[in-house]
Amino acid sequence: MGMDEGKSRTNAKTMNAVRFHEYGPPEALRFERVTRPSAGTREVLVRVRAAGVNPGDWQMRSGWAAEKFGLSLTLPFTPGYDLAGIVEEVGPGVTRYRAGDRVFGMTAAAGAYAEFVAVPESRLALLPAALDDVQAAGVPMSAFTAWTAVHAQAQVLPGQTVLINGASGGVGHFALQFAKLAGARVIAVTSGRNRAFAEALGADDVFDYTADDWAALAGVADAVIDTVGGEETEALVRSVRQGGSLVPVGWGRYSPELARKIGVRVQELLMAPFEADRLARIGERLAAGDLRAEIGAAMPLAEAARAHALSESRRARGKIVLQAGE
Ligand SMILES: NC(=O)c1ccc[n+]([C@@H]2O[C@H](COP(=O)([O-])OP(=O)(O)OC[C@H]3O[C@@H](n4cnc5c(N)ncnc54)[C@H](OP(=O)(O)O)[C@@H]3O)[C@@H](O)[C@H]2O)c1
Repeated sequence: MGMDEGKSRTNAKTMNAVRFHEYGPPEALRFERVTRPSAGTREVLVRVRAAGVNPGDWQMRSGWAAEKFGLSLTLPFTPGYDLAGIVEEVGPGVTRYRAGDRVFGMTAAAGAYAEFVAVPESRLALLPAALDDVQAAGVPMSAFTAWTAVHAQAQVLPGQTVLINGASGGVGHFALQFAKLAGARVIAVTSGRNRAFAEALGADDVFDYTADDWAALAGVADAVIDTVGGEETEALVRSVRQGGSLVPVGWGRYSPELARKIGVRVQELLMAPFEADRLARIGERLAAGDLRAEIGAAMPLAEAARAHALSESRRARGKIVLQAGE
C-alpha cells in the first residue's frame, strides 16, 4: 500500500463540519475535522452539497432553545436540519435510494452543517433535475411550516383574505405563495425595501410595518400567519375578523383576553410534521416554476458564523444557505 492510499483512507474517516462546543454567540461555531458518520439501518449517508439555515439553528446554538424548551443538547453539536446532496451510501434495509441519487430533506437530529450526514430514508425526497442544491436546501423546514400554517392550521379557502406578517422571510415567503395557490387574497407585511419582492411573489397588498398605520387593517383578515412574533402583538389580533384565526409561527405572545373579546382562534403551530411525499410534490412545483425558493444569501460552510449573524439580524430575505464541498 502506497503512502497516498493510506492517507486517503485516513481522510475518508473524517470530514469538515461546523460545531459548537458551548452555547454562545455566532463565533461559538467552529469549522473543524470530525469523524465521518456512516449509514445505520434504514438510513442514507448523504454527501451534503448545501445546508439550509433556520432560526432554530441559532436558537439552539445560543442556548435560547435549551432555556425555553428545556432541550439539552449533547455537546459538541453540529446544527442544521435542511439539506440537499448526493447519496454516498445506503444502510441496511434502505429501499428507496441508491448511491448517486440527488436528494433533499431534513435530518432527524440536526447535523447538516457537515460534508456528510446520515438521514433516515423516510426524511428524504428525490431532487428534481431542474432544482439546484442551494435552492433545494432552502426549502424543507420553511416550506413545511408554511404549508402547515396555511392548510392544516388556518385552513385557508379560496376568496379568503390572509395576512402574512414577515412575508419576506424564510417561512413567510412560502406562506404567501401557498396562500395564493389556495386562492386567497394576500396582504403581505414587510418593510418597504421588500415591497417589490412581496408583489413579485403575488401579494395583493403590501403593508409596510415601518410606515403604515395598523388601524387600517382592523378586522380585514380571515387568517393571520405571524412569522415574526414579539412580546405584545395586539395589532395582529385586531387585524383578524370575528371567527377568524391567528397562527403563531414565530413564538409571539398575544393577549388571550383580546382574542376572546374579538372572537379570534389562536392556533399555536409547534413542529410541522415531515412528509416525504409532500416534499416531493413541493419539489415538483418548484421545478415547474409554480413556486419559488428565494435564496437571499449563500456562503461556504466555513462561514456558518456569518450566516448565523445574518439570520439573527432578522433582516434576511428568503433563505440563507451554506454550501459544502465543491
Ligand atoms: N414552529 C416551527 O416549527 C417553526 C419552524 C420554522 C420557523 N419557526 C419560527 O418562525 C420564525 C420565522 O422564521 P423564518 O425562517 O421565516 O425567519 P427569517 O427568515 O429570519 O425572517 C426574516 C424576515 O423577517 C422580516 N421581519 C423582521 N422583523 C419584522 C417585523 N417586525 N415585521 C414584519 N417582518 C419582519 C424581515 O423582513 P424586513 O427586513 O422587511 O423587516 C425578514 O425578511 C422564527 O422565530 C422561527 O424560529 C418556527
